[in-house]
Amino acid sequence: MRMRALVLGAAAGGGLPQWNCGCRNCDAARAGKLAAQTQSSLAVTVDDKTWIIFNASPDIRAQFTNNRQLWPTHLRESPLHSLVLTNADIDHIAGLLTLREKQPFTLFLTERLDEILKPNSVFQALDPALVSKRICKLDTWFQIGATSKARLFPVPGKVPLFLEKDEVDTGMLGEQTVGIEFEANGARLLYVPGCAAITAEIEAKVTDADALFFDGTLFDDREMITAGLGQKTGKRMGHMSMSGEEGSLAAFHKFKCPRKIFVHINNTNPVWAEGSPERKEVEANGWEIGYDGMEITL
Ligand code: MLT
Ligand code: MN
Ligand code: ZN
Repeated sequence: MRMRALVLGAAAGGGLPQWNCGCRNCDAARAGKLAAQTQSSLAVTVDDKTWIIFNASPDIRAQFTNNRQLWPTHLRESPLHSLVLTNADIDHIAGLLTLREKQPFTLFLTERLDEILKPNSVFQALDPALVSKRICKLDTWFQIGATSKARLFPVPGKVPLFLEKDEVDTGMLGEQTVGIEFEANGARLLYVPGCAAITAEIEAKVTDADALFFDGTLFDDREMITAGLGQKTGKRMGHMSMSGEEGSLAAFHKFKCPRKIFVHINNTNPVWAEGSPERKEVEANGWEIGYDGMEITL
């Protein structure tokens, strides 16, 4: 075992079911016909003891309960070693508030993401005496854990929904949306839960990755509109969709990454339903659909 990765939450913001959504998938999840899924997060371990978590989902409390790997090892001791943020969307930061209970860990994030969190005094709930922050520069390896390292790289995206103004650039390349490259014991994993478009840098990284966890928000860019659930395309939300000429299936077709796994999947996405034509198409392209509790060993 070089590395294990555990999907804590495979759904996009809102989860499956989303509290106020009556779409087909959400209804099926409430009825127990589709497995419910919590919001976006991945955990990795290289020593089978301590875990590094990518993104703090609003469902992190349930995720710590649902996954035995993360249960406390002593009276007040958690396998949580550190946490890395890929953006400041609510589905990736709200869980930080749950982690306030006197637990030491290290929070890795870019300076821009720190600038978003810092003025919001509610995040002072994380006691700086226990939670140390490490500001990460883009494209620069940093040590995380005793025998692993990581590097954040820019991914096209936008500012969080709560910071949007009239004009929204969904293709910003900088510190507000990043992917994580994680390496240990000769294995390399990529985690990119939000991505508006593919770049040459992402392509180059996929070429020698052992596993890719990638933004699977929508199958069809107009899916939310077609379902009567809103006016936004996936693109406008800062997410490239699976299908279409500019979609992720086409973009990654030529790359032979051994494990390509979709995560951050929106509740409207038809790939949730096993046997759906969309699910078959995705699987025929060599992709797996992530799900809560899915664990892979590299
Ligand atoms: C997204 O991934 O687009 C965001 O999580 C949306 C949101 O903040 O609700
Ligand atoms: Mn999201
Ligand atoms: Zn729904």
